[in-house]
Amino acid sequence: HRRPSRRSGAGLVAAGGLSSLASVVESQQFDRPMLEELFEVAREMERITEDGSECKILAGKVMGTLFYEPSTRTRLSFETAMCRLGGKVVSTENAREFSSVAKGETLEDTIRTLEQYVDVVVLRHFQAGSARIAADAASVPLISAGDGPGQHPTQALLDIYTIQKEIGRVDDTKVALVGDLANGRTARSLAYILSKFRNVKLYFVAPDVARINEDIKEHLTECGCEWEEVDNLQSVASEVDVLYQTRIQKERYGDRPEDYEKAQGKFIVDEDLMRLMKQDAVVMHPLPRVGEITPQVDADPRAAYFRQAKNGLYIRMALLATLLKGK
Ligand code: CP
Repeated sequence: HRRPSRRSGAGLVAAGGLSSLASVVESQQFDRPMLEELFEVAREMERITEDGSECKILAGKVMGTLFYEPSTRTRLSFETAMCRLGGKVVSTENAREFSSVAKGETLEDTIRTLEQYVDVVVLRHFQAGSARIAADAASVPLISAGDGPGQHPTQALLDIYTIQKEIGRVDDTKVALVGDLANGRTARSLAYILSKFRNVKLYFVAPDVARINEDIKEHLTECGCEWEEVDNLQSVASEVDVLYQTRIQKERYGDRPEDYEKAQGKFIVDEDLMRLMKQDAVVMHPLPRVGEITPQVDADPRAAYFRQAKNGLYIRMALLATLLKGK
């Protein structure tokens, strides 16, 4: 017996292109109509969350979260999303140590086992390409929560949702991606998805040891998306609508600590930089930060990074509802 919900759930789930979604492994899976559908569902999720409505559309469903790398936002927002939709969660954090992976089990076998218990798997893994391998092995929907330095597609979805909410458009924007662009999967996924919008100019601002990879530049050029690599953040700060700062990913510099030291602290968003920025621009960051945005910036209304993290809940609610109910 299910408790009656104040909303039936009908109307929460997109119909059309998005409903054919089987798994989420890379941001370029989403075209603009799919994004519009997803954002419509996310806005509804935001409304029901904000007004405290009870929603049980995923009652009876179970989500398994399998995290081989640390996470605060992605895992907890996915788990919160499932709870808010009436579903249940089983979870393995630090899967390398606390799952049978520690005994030598392969990723494919782990996925084939987990799918015996759950209706959807959310996977964070340390290897680029692992999300695709897992999705191919899975017979239930698999959502990548980040695969090493590869991609973080749900982050890109919430980032685009945030840009749309904060500045009212994604077309006709100038966006600076700043920081560890070589290892940062969020920047890679965001660049891919931004290439689907009109008249977007991307500035890549990275230390020499962390420059954006060629595959992204080639993709943008093929799409006709304008991009430029610059080494001076101040020179673009006054031009951009979105400044997307990222962390230098210390964990990816294991055998190159000297490169990490060179990169860390090179580009900082502080009050001086904020004075150069437009009044209607926003500063975003996938978080966590480790000094690349000073705490004094937090009080500036243009600092959107915690609102961005909150949008992750709505986007992940929308994705779960779509994947588990959309068909
Ligand atoms: N943005 C992001 O992926 O944060 P977590 O690593 O805390 O999940």
